[in-house]
Amino acid sequence: MSILVTGGAGYIGSHTCLELLNAGYEIVVIDNLSNGKLEAMNRVSELAKTDFKFYKIDLLNKKALETVFSENNIEAVIHFAGLKSVNESIETPLHYYHNNITGTLVLCQTMREYGVKKMVFSSSANVYGIPENVPVTEDAPLKPTNPYGRTKLMVEEILRDLYVSDNNWSVALLRYFNPIGAHESGRIGEDPNDIPNNLIPYINQVAIGKRDKLNVFGKDYDTHDGTGVRDYIHVVDLAKGHLKALEKVISTTGVDTFNLGTGVGYSVLDVIKNYENTTSQKIPYIFTHRRMGDIDKCYAETTKANKKLGWKATKSLEDMCLDAWRWQKNNPNGYAK
Ligand code: NAD
Ligand code: UD1
Repeated sequence: MSILVTGGAGYIGSHTCLELLNAGYEIVVIDNLSNGKLEAMNRVSELAKTDFKFYKIDLLNKKALETVFSENNIEAVIHFAGLKSVNESIETPLHYYHNNITGTLVLCQTMREYGVKKMVFSSSANVYGIPENVPVTEDAPLKPTNPYGRTKLMVEEILRDLYVSDNNWSVALLRYFNPIGAHESGRIGEDPNDIPNNLIPYINQVAIGKRDKLNVFGKDYDTHDGTGVRDYIHVVDLAKGHLKALEKVISTTGVDTFNLGTGVGYSVLDVIKNYENTTSQKIPYIFTHRRMGDIDKCYAETTKANKKLGWKATKSLEDMCLDAWRWQKNNPNGYAK
């Protein structure tokens, strides 16, 4: 039996593939490589010292997806494939809704046809919108403020409806907070295609000399130092959370939601200071205006995942900065040669 990983050539997917292989699972990966990299798959294979099947296909291509299900004995699906930029989703909402929602519908239809009813889904803390309280619990109001977040919420609802229609389904909805860092080998990591939007990829490029300074978006937030506070989680901790969620969906039925974060919030200035101290790289920065859509603070209540999945993030912000920098230093151009 194999675990199908959609979007496995991407950032979180590649780290999860490695953890799955290390834990002895057989995996099959599909990715259209719109944002993922084939080289990530080669390196996962090299690190795990084992091979696995990779199909370059698009989720929207039902015929191709059927081939994957007919050629492999799939037990469960970990569904990462999706587009993830908030800004892009505002500019091209139809593209986002089609890719993230239709793609998931095609996947679920195919799963149902082949009797596969177990799924771990990549949702996002974005579904909470502007949280009324922190730490955010899973039962907080869901009111995403952009098309990207709405695609995640809609897919969550589709999966809940699917379970209502057929109680044999088993689904874990994982709401990630801010995944950062890289595998400690420095061989796999986050490889943004354009100018990075997110904090750590941008800091990495300042550290390596690709950009001269970081723009800190806003210094008048209601936080301990005026800069935005987030729950940064090491991508390997996050990947391990998927294995726990997988064990749960394989052994039960139902739909359940879990926050995957550390439960601790750090400000932008905390992250800069930590990155500088752990890597000995200077990160010049200036304060600029707030970024549209940003919130002051967001961090997770993680008790539910701790108790029901038996999972807890273990890596520190120091680990995250050190591993992010190792990846950047060893791969100045990401996966490109
Ligand atoms: P990523 O872009 O690195 O990985 C997503 C992968 O899906 C890419 O390799 C891409 O090529 C593939 N893909 C996209 N559409 C596809 C399609 N139609 N068919 C086949 N493959 C397709 O992103 P990531 O950071 O690894 O995120 C993985 C998932 O987690 C995404 O669904 C994302 O929305 C979600 N998520 C990410 C974050 C984050 O901060 N990285 C936070 C919350 C949720
Ligand atoms: C962003 C997305 C969110 C997505 C997450 C992970 C927005 C509004 N939200 O969240 O949907 O799930 O990325 O992909 O885009 N910052 C700077 N300078 C920078 C970059 C970031 O000061 O160059 C600050 C931000 O203002 C924020 C913090 O760093 O306070 C973290 O930003 P980022 O890494 O982009 O994550 P989120 O804003 O939490």
